[in-house]
Amino acid sequence: MIGITSYGAYIPRLRLSRSAIFQAVGWFAPAVMAVAQGERSMCNWDEDSITMAVAASRDCLTGQKKETIDAMFLASTTLPFADRSNAGIVSTALNLRENIFAADVTSTQKAGTSALVSALDSLKGGDKSQILVAASDKRETKAAYFYEMWFGDGAAALLLGKDNVIAEYLGSYSISCDFVPHYRGELKRFDYTWEERWIRDEGYSKIIPQAVSGLMQKLNFTMNDVDKFIFPCFFKAEHKKIAQTLGADKKLIDNLHEACGETGTAHPLMMLVSALETAKPGDRILVAGFGQGCDALYFKVTEEIQKLSPRKGFKGHLSDKKTIHNYEKWLVFRELISKEMGIRAEAPTQTALTTLYRKRKMLLGLVGGKCRECQTPQFPKMDICVNPKCGAVNSQDDYEFSNIKAKIKTFTGDMLAVSLDPPQKYGMIQFEGGGRFMADFTDCELDDLKVGLPVEMAFRIRTLPSSSERGFTNYFWKAIPIPQPEQAVEIIRFDGRVAIITGAGGGLGRQYALDLAKRGAKVVVNDYGGSRDGSGTGSASPAEKVVQEIKNLGGEAVANYDNVATVEGGEHIVKTAMDTFGRVDIVINNAGILRDKSFTKMEPENWYSVIDVHLNGAYHVTRPAFKVMKENGYGRILFTTSAAGLYGNFGQTNYSSAKMALVGFMNALKIEGMKSNIKVNTIAPLAGTRLTEDIMPPDVFAKMKPEYVSPMVLYLCSDECKETGAVFNVGMGYANRVCVMTGQAVNVGNQEQLPTPETIQEHWEKINSLKGAKEYFDLNTAMIGLFTSPPAEEKQVEHSSAKEGLSVEGIFEMMPKSFNPEAAAGVAVVFQYEIAGDGGGSWIVTIHDKTCKVEKGKSDNPTCTLKIAAPDYI
Ligand code: NAI
Repeated sequence: MIGITSYGAYIPRLRLSRSAIFQAVGWFAPAVMAVAQGERSMCNWDEDSITMAVAASRDCLTGQKKETIDAMFLASTTLPFADRSNAGIVSTALNLRENIFAADVTSTQKAGTSALVSALDSLKGGDKSQILVAASDKRETKAAYFYEMWFGDGAAALLLGKDNVIAEYLGSYSISCDFVPHYRGELKRFDYTWEERWIRDEGYSKIIPQAVSGLMQKLNFTMNDVDKFIFPCFFKAEHKKIAQTLGADKKLIDNLHEACGETGTAHPLMMLVSALETAKPGDRILVAGFGQGCDALYFKVTEEIQKLSPRKGFKGHLSDKKTIHNYEKWLVFRELISKEMGIRAEAPTQTALTTLYRKRKMLLGLVGGKCRECQTPQFPKMDICVNPKCGAVNSQDDYEFSNIKAKIKTFTGDMLAVSLDPPQKYGMIQFEGGGRFMADFTDCELDDLKVGLPVEMAFRIRTLPSSSERGFTNYFWKAIPIPQPEQAVEIIRFDGRVAIITGAGGGLGRQYALDLAKRGAKVVVNDYGGSRDGSGTGSASPAEKVVQEIKNLGGEAVANYDNVATVEGGEHIVKTAMDTFGRVDIVINNAGILRDKSFTKMEPENWYSVIDVHLNGAYHVTRPAFKVMKENGYGRILFTTSAAGLYGNFGQTNYSSAKMALVGFMNALKIEGMKSNIKVNTIAPLAGTRLTEDIMPPDVFAKMKPEYVSPMVLYLCSDECKETGAVFNVGMGYANRVCVMTGQAVNVGNQEQLPTPETIQEHWEKINSLKGAKEYFDLNTAMIGLFTSPPAEEKQVEHSSAKEGLSVEGIFEMMPKSFNPEAAAGVAVVFQYEIAGDGGGSWIVTIHDKTCKVEKGKSDNPTCTLKIAAPDYI
């Protein structure tokens, strides 16, 4: 059996409202009102017949093997190249094998069905077993014309073959005659069209029935043997009348005028795809394509249609739309009005055909490399692996990026760059599994872009199409943002990361485990399962329960029941992570017990057991994990302190000491971890758990959900977190930072005159004052602070700049000092910076007359807006 094995469609996202056309041109051409219903599909400025054919073909190849395709036909009358295989561009973009037959089928509106007949017949008789047929058209019309209303842009694709046939090909019949309803003469952009009445009466009404009757006679069937009758005809009344004459008015498939308009050579295939989407096994479909004559084909749908993998198809593309009411935009995109593009548009855009050929896979097929040694993907493919830890030479296999999901890392809207749809939008995209590059964004407005938003790749025109005097259209891949419901944008993810959480069988730890797993982390759920005061022999069930909860959510986790209070327990927890998941990226020291007693009743047993779980427990687990992290050059460690330690609480000398000791532990470890990208931070949570249930009033307890604490924990454990050595209070919807502040040093003596208790008393007010107090990152800077008295500058130094020398605000302050006036000669620009996240805000940088002015706030009229997350900006 031969026939259709898969189908796909593409309708550009943009739709032009026909009433907008009428409103703009109705004064001049009032008659167009008659067909001004619905909307027509409209290519973005960077789309043409080639890009749409690629999109429809990719839709068609969903779930299909493309390695076995051995021919590709591209049908269109609007191909950008008169002498260059347009089908060759499509097959390279699709990354099909090179030893295939590729051909353009063109010069008539029935090119789509003609390509289909040729492909099916060559499957029947020839040595080919799988053929891809795509038909695509972007027809140009002059403004204020019926055809501007009737036409639409779009593409459809069919995969034909011998296995898994969804619609069996039963035969075809063709009429070929030189009937000319319109023609496009040599080097003409627009069609010359003959009188419509003649086209209807002598063309459609006679030639289509002739081809259909010929087919019925040839294959010996009648209209009773047809369930769906398809033929394009934009004359609505005629469309119905012809079907009626043939006894098929109830079987007629809509000509899609209101939905998208007639898509030229693609239209019979587009209507066929729309019919296949609703077809049931056994349905018989008759398709006719009208041009200089007519092709009629007959198919029977099989059971296989139910097995076809889901795709966007005709319906999906139809509903994914953005309606435009701006007729002038249409005129600009179609180059129907001449506009001033500025001097920058004259920049040379010549494509070196040598490079294009050499790098065809990369430029047209978006093929990068993947290292055989370390599996790191990269774009472009290079001789040396990009992974600094690998650096293997000549280790790259081809790796296709076009179907891999990506997310926006950074983006900008550039009003200075030449664009038909300003501002020019571009930025960094990060592919799932690795690989990133600077991409243009298309089919979107600047406001649609957000860091973390998923994007899909689309094959598009790279630079302004006809502005090039060489008539060469160049293509590359761009990113289209996929709109998400606001809350679904997850910038912070833990895919591929392994987290150890101690005491995760309940309370706060359980919440961290669930939330980390939901965002992709593999989790070691440790819990000894003892009572609140740590007594008892332990139990496996709390950890196991949480692991099951994670698995039910589709996550990955392993349970561990070790006691953190022992050296072996800590080592075995880390070993569990290594044995199960092969690495450790995150350690959350959370396990805890309480043994409250007033100090005189604080027996050594209560003291030591609390110190053992909180302080020694953190040491036992963190030490073996830290070794692994250092080797990996990555780590996130979190300690859990408490307000009882930070500020003091009655009856908790043991607990407060252990908790405050963890802050000291962090202070030293942060320095040891710095070189290896290991960030160490501490939280003081506040949450309703079994540790706090009897000390909080029930109504307050109910509001203290662990869910309020977990987001801070996840942030501190994420790649995005650049903080290290900081302590945060967090709970009940609030968070703030806690730090050790050091007052200004007061000089109380020197070698000649040593201080006395009296000198101390004399200076007590100043020594005891926190006026002008500072935070120091480590002992060394604190000591320098002690000896430089009084500090040269009274101004408080920004926290992160004190630590790393850089903050968002600090960089803006430095900007005018680093400014090179000569390099900015003749430049007048207003940059609007929108920095998101910690330390972020809005800044305006104005470059004018060789000066650079930086101010906080929002400009009314920026030349260029840059939206960047604070860590990336830094
Ligand atoms: P929780 O009692 O619900 O959770 C602590 C978990 O640690 C329990 O599941 C327990 O079985 C486990 N655990 C105890 N000893 C262990 C050991 N030796 N080895 C392995 N697991 C062990 O209490 P919660 O509130 O979730 O506490 C989590 C952390 O937060 C603790 O470190 C606690 O001190 C700290 N904290 C909690 C506050 C709150 O408001 N809930 C306030 C300040 C700090």
